[in-house]
Amino acid sequence: MKIFIDTANIEEIKAVKDLGIVKGVTTNPSLIAKEGRKLEEVIKEIVSLIDGPISAEVNEGSIDEMEKQAIALSKIDPNIVIKVPMTLDGIALVSRLAKRKIKTNVTLVFSVPQALMACEAGATYISPFMGRVDDFGESGADLIEDIMTMIVNYGYETEVIAASIRNTAHVKEASLRGADIATIPYKVLMQMVKHPLTDKGLEIFANASKK
Ligand code: E4P
Repeated sequence: MKIFIDTANIEEIKAVKDLGIVKGVTTNPSLIAKEGRKLEEVIKEIVSLIDGPISAEVNEGSIDEMEKQAIALSKIDPNIVIKVPMTLDGIALVSRLAKRKIKTNVTLVFSVPQALMACEAGATYISPFMGRVDDFGESGADLIEDIMTMIVNYGYETEVIAASIRNTAHVKEASLRGADIATIPYKVLMQMVKHPLTDKGLEIFANASKK
């Protein structure tokens, strides 16, 4: 499973860059707003740091307005992926962008029928939100597995990004249920390396080497 980082914070991206395991970046309007910076400015900086798919979300608007913004964003760099909300207009936009060979990531996916529409429209990626599905009282892990089954049944090329990852258990479930990618917040990435028995083992070996 490929690992993306879910952030618009440049320091976090710089901090994980040297690990060599982060193959892409996803942002959303809330993450951009948290940085208090303009979308285009942040995206340009991210592109200079990570050589992989970088998702930038279009603002809600008419299809023509969103298409105009999508085309402008896609011109920043060939690695730009246009993040499109899961709405009827969003699906129509994905169909238009697919014809132009512009990559898309359909976001706010919470069901198999939504995922099916996005795949049929030619989405490059879809992002089912594990954490928010769990909060809603359903299983984010089951959603990933069901969407993967649907994709395998019909041979779609769309890749699944497990999103709204809140903890390492989500990462584990995303990988066991077959997600192509997990987009992970910095805090959870840092937790993934840790295990109490690893710390204990390090302590035991350090003490042994002193003797
Ligand atoms: C996905 O691309 C979104 O940016 C993100 O994972 C949403 O996560 P949240 O539910 O923690 O806001």
